[in-house]
Amino acid sequence: MGKIRKAVFPVAGLGTRFLPATKASPKEMLPVVDKPLIQYAAEEAEDAGIDQLVFITGRNKRSIEDHFDKAYELEMELERMGKQRLLEIVQTILPPTVNCIYLRQADVLGLGHAVLCARPVVGEEPFAVLLADDLIQVNGRGVVGQMAEKYERYGCSILSVMEVPRDKTDKYGIVRTRTDPDGMLRVVSIVEKPAPGDAPSNLAVVGRYLLTPGIFRKLEQTRPGAAGEIQLTDAIAALLADEPVIAHLFEGKRYDCGSKLGYLEATVEYGLAHPELGTDFADYLRRVVR
Ligand code: UTP
Repeated sequence: MGKIRKAVFPVAGLGTRFLPATKASPKEMLPVVDKPLIQYAAEEAEDAGIDQLVFITGRNKRSIEDHFDKAYELEMELERMGKQRLLEIVQTILPPTVNCIYLRQADVLGLGHAVLCARPVVGEEPFAVLLADDLIQVNGRGVVGQMAEKYERYGCSILSVMEVPRDKTDKYGIVRTRTDPDGMLRVVSIVEKPAPGDAPSNLAVVGRYLLTPGIFRKLEQTRPGAAGEIQLTDAIAALLADEPVIAHLFEGKRYDCGSKLGYLEATVEYGLAHPELGTDFADYLRRVVR
């Protein structure tokens, strides 16, 4: 069955909801407290035992590459200034055993198309997909790690899902599931952004997927759907005809950092949970609210 060794990070979206911040820099470089979103996602993948990170970049790709690259001048300056702790922080963004690969999505043709761009590197292996703008705060193991454990048992594609209010189904891909005798949630159908009246459930797919390479064949055959984009959801719907797909109701709290409100919520919660800032920040918030 094998282990999941590769993770794909589609970071080529236009991030229109965050303009003008995303004019010259991808939204995945927005920081929450002191780390960019993409670093949280890369750490989550690494924590799941993944050692090949495949970034699907668009315009403005430089900052992401630079972030994971060695920064000689900065390191020399920090060394000269005797700032050992900061030096260590910039040197250990990823362990040396992790390999980063950058591929270009020349046209912004949708998430499904971005995932298909990873095919030459992923090949015939199962892989994870992480959307870094979905930031998920956990107490224990990261969501991709939780899913990788399930993969070792079931060996099929897995979608991370959470319950959303009924009137919000039109913001997500929504799955219908049935519970198998062993308690596993088997995905029966999936639809992109259904109106609340048409939604098969309130179980929404969020930005963590483990996919078998069968998805590439389905993506190749997927025609542009909503907004002229090749939707990952449509390819997953097609995959269901050939292979089992299961849903993983993850443990953790998800913030939609692609939206301004979600991003602000994440900033507040991560600020409050921060070991150095938490107490002062809580005091500050109390004063502001009063
Ligand atoms: P979103 O649906 O959030 O779109 O993409 P977006 O362009 O990033 O942001 P808005 O809606 O305009 O504000 C979901 C994920 O898929 C990636 C994005 O970078 C994001 O991680 N994506 C989307 C691509 O890599 N390529 C695409 O063609 C579309």
